[in-house]
Amino acid sequence: MRKTLIAANWKMNMTVKETEKFFKDFKLASEEGKELLVCPPFTDIPLVKFFLERSSIRWGAQDVYPEERGAFTGEISPVMLKDLGCTYVIVGHSERRQIMGESDSFIARKVSAVLKEEMSPILCVGETEEERNAGKTEARIRDEVMAALKGTEAKNLEKTVIAYEPLWAIGSGKAAAPEDAENAAVLIRKTVQELAGKKAASAVRILYGGSVNADNIASFVKKKNVDGALIGGASLEPGSLLEIYHKA
Ligand code: PGA
Repeated sequence: MRKTLIAANWKMNMTVKETEKFFKDFKLASEEGKELLVCPPFTDIPLVKFFLERSSIRWGAQDVYPEERGAFTGEISPVMLKDLGCTYVIVGHSERRQIMGESDSFIARKVSAVLKEEMSPILCVGETEEERNAGKTEARIRDEVMAALKGTEAKNLEKTVIAYEPLWAIGSGKAAAPEDAENAAVLIRKTVQELAGKKAASAVRILYGGSVNADNIASFVKKKNVDGALIGGASLEPGSLLEIYHKA
């Protein structure tokens, strides 16, 4: 059975003060078969660890540089994230692909670097609005999954998470239809099967992301192949994140 994963992506939000305020009254009544994950900016990770290390909630990072150490000014290595107790790292978010110009091959290196430190990558894939209108959604998803995961061992693929995040749905208030998320999840699972076989395909967890909130979360996780959600905006308010977790 795949565990449901509710993952908060805080993006470039939350100062240390705001993070303290967030966790002040944050009490999770954890539920069987469900996992909650918070991915704050790098600067908040030690504080988030302080608040969460005695709880069942996990924490992770939003990005990583694919080298262990060295002359990479401004970057953060997987070794450093592991050292701070991170268990997941978001990789290849569309904002990084588009704004920072990250390529498929760079993202593939990040996936390997995260797995090498025994953390789980959350690989983000998804089509733009133009691609969707041009009927290229499936090709785009398949290409991104293939490019990032080709060569990954089956046992590592089993602990990889893939988030389907159509670009037009991110931060737009216009979530995808649950059926479209399910179709994308089926395609992703098929692609993983091609890469590494049935066992990996049935173990890999697939999330939907893009304007998820407390009102629509249930309609996504109800789908057979959708194992949770990656949540931006609606994860910044503690009451909203808890409500999403419980409704999932
Ligand atoms: P959103 O962002 O929930 O604010 O749409 C999701 C994401 O980018 O991961």
